[in-house]
Amino acid sequence: MDLARFLDGVEEAFAGDPQDSEPIDPRYGQLVQDVAGYTSAAELAVLNVAARLLPPDECYLEVGSYKGRSMCGAVQGVDDRVFYVLENYLEFGMQGEQARQELHDNLARHAAHADVRLLEGNCFELLRRPGLLDRPVGVYFYDGEHTATSHYLALGMIEPWLADEALVLVDDATYPMVSDAHDAYIARHPQWRVERRWDARSNDDPLWANGLHALSFRRDAASARGSAETFDVRWRRLAYAGALGPGQKAAWKAIHTYPGLVPLAKKLYPSKKASTID
Ligand SMILES: C[S@@+](CC[C@H](N)C(=O)[O-])C[C@H]1O[C@@H](n2cnc3c(N)ncnc32)[C@H](O)[C@@H]1O
Repeated sequence: MDLARFLDGVEEAFAGDPQDSEPIDPRYGQLVQDVAGYTSAAELAVLNVAARLLPPDECYLEVGSYKGRSMCGAVQGVDDRVFYVLENYLEFGMQGEQARQELHDNLARHAAHADVRLLEGNCFELLRRPGLLDRPVGVYFYDGEHTATSHYLALGMIEPWLADEALVLVDDATYPMVSDAHDAYIARHPQWRVERRWDARSNDDPLWANGLHALSFRRDAASARGSAETFDVRWRRLAYAGALGPGQKAAWKAIHTYPGLVPLAKKLYPSKKASTID
């Protein structure tokens, strides 16, 4: 993935400075109207620039699809690339067959022209599965669960799958717990850099929702393919598998079963996402 071309492409996709202007193409605004979700038109425009520039021998991977808005935006006008969607149907009322059906219906309506492959399960389990993806990931969009550990692992566990030069887009990155996690990761892994920050000026900013950061990864000798998992990633992965992951799962299931817990969840999880639990 050519990072320089991506950054130029983003500038061209907006009427003015991307931080303060709408994307030129009105179709992203239309998708926001048509498909329930959390990504803004500006974010969809950025995802689409990335997808258009993806080399054919690399794939695009999204973690956290919800009802498919972000994937529907990414694939607009791109019919010859491979896209993976990874979703565990856990958060925001995504449980059950109805949620899966809505995702399928939206992809059928807005992404039928594209090669979109659905992977169902927890990303932190699936990303350990050999052969999960058929080619290196040139573009990775992480919009899954937002805890410090998840965000650290979101970078650490994707690294072996990434192309030698890759673009990583992190949603909700204006939240300190998100940007602190990627800053902490980058401090230990010099192959990574934050290239652009499109930050939200307020919660649920109409332009940038809760912020989007573009990170780059460039493989070097220390991160050569086949390198052993680093200690910082390993202990977080084990902590997630043993306690944090099951805890989060139980909490979301409880909210689903006992909607009376929603006010408590909003207090404990103060973000736009919690305020839309219903
Ligand atoms: C904020 S929503 C995604 C919004 C979506 N990208 C959009 O454009 O509307 C987060 C989604 O990530 C999923 N998710 C959270 N943690 C996950 C994990 N560990 N593995 C896979 N999916 C996950 C949730 O079920 C939820 O549907």
